[in-house]
Amino acid sequence: MEPARLWWSGCTLHSVEVTVGNEPVNQFNALVQSLGEFPPEPVVFGSSEAMQTLRARMNKVASANVPVLIHGESGTGKDIIARMIHALSPWKSGPFVKVNCPAIPATLLESELFGYEKGAFTGAYGSKPGRVELAHRGSLFLDEISELDLALQSKLLQLLQDGQFCRIGAQEDKKVEVRVVCATNRQLETEIENGTFRQDLFYRINVVSLHLPPLRERRGDIGGLVDYFLEYYNHKYNCRARALSPEVMARLEKYHWPGNIRELENLMKRYVILGGEDVITAELVARNGQEFFNPEINLDGPISLKKLTRQATRELERKVILKVLQAHHWNRKQAARALSISYRALLYKIRDAGLPPNRSSRRSSEETPGRSVAAG
Ligand SMILES: Nc1ncnc2c1ncn2[C@@H]1O[C@H](COP(=O)(O)OP(=O)(O)OP(=O)(O)O)[C@@H](O)[C@H]1O
Ligand SMILES: [Mg+2]
Repeated sequence: MEPARLWWSGCTLHSVEVTVGNEPVNQFNALVQSLGEFPPEPVVFGSSEAMQTLRARMNKVASANVPVLIHGESGTGKDIIARMIHALSPWKSGPFVKVNCPAIPATLLESELFGYEKGAFTGAYGSKPGRVELAHRGSLFLDEISELDLALQSKLLQLLQDGQFCRIGAQEDKKVEVRVVCATNRQLETEIENGTFRQDLFYRINVVSLHLPPLRERRGDIGGLVDYFLEYYNHKYNCRARALSPEVMARLEKYHWPGNIRELENLMKRYVILGGEDVITAELVARNGQEFFNPEINLDGPISLKKLTRQATRELERKVILKVLQAHHWNRKQAARALSISYRALLYKIRDAGLPPNRSSRRSSEETPGRSVAAG
């Protein structure tokens, strides 16, 4: 593919003034997202068959006011696709309102989504529209929809059925016209089986689904993405990092990219800022090493099979726990259930494995792929 040259040609749309009924809601404009810039379409879709099918489907569905469910592993570009759907829709001059469900504490989510009336609860000194209202005549993007609890799921179901909802503490329902786009990296069918996701809601949000393939299933697009990120970050940081050698490109094309395009983007960002291909090779070696746990064995001295096995088990355990915690958005109770161990045992293992105790401190551990485990 031709190197992507025109990163600045990406579409940009800024936040818009919103009114709900006769109420001015300018003070809440911060919640109405700017669409930001997109990479050019040839970069976003590349040339793989799966992405071409996705593009055709997306173009068709964008113009119809039906709910869309975007599914794909973390870092595959769900956010970009949701914004593109809005930008291609007849409501593109309306607001694009994103709700990152896991980022909002469960106790606040209802008022964030549906708003409240004055006096609805202690501290509700005035009334406030929720994000559903702010999205009137535009798009409401519910990211990580599986995080909504069952009570909110039924309120959302009502919204999808007849466009009606009720602010907390209000006497009457309100009506909005809104296009709902949801995203998830979970298998909602499994959540339904587990009783944590309503089947009727699933059918409502899943009128059209778009599946984003993981990067390892579209390796042919890695070259185009590398060129794009190189040019983009060279420009952004005023750097002059050179094109990668064929050897390093071959490594990138073989790597399995568990963090998908986000992982590739971050790697290229570091390469541009720090310079030197060894930044890339060192990281890939560390990540591959971690993936296929490969201990150094000194054949000249005594080998402790017991010690090596214990070391491997601990590393495997750490990886499994980290993965399950990530999958459950760091909800340790759910993770313990998924792992079939007690909550206390999980807390002990988290500490023992040197993993961060909670969500807020988790990033550093997720971004430290080469962490070695002490033997013993
Ligand atoms: N096709 C693409 N072309 C260029 N950049 C991309 C593409 N897909 C994703 N990216 C970049 O990768 C990063 C992650 O993308 P995005 O946030 O859309 O992923 P996601 O699927 O929503 O991930 P998560 O499930 O973790 O929220 C972003 O910085 C985005 O700009
Ligand atoms: Mg996302």
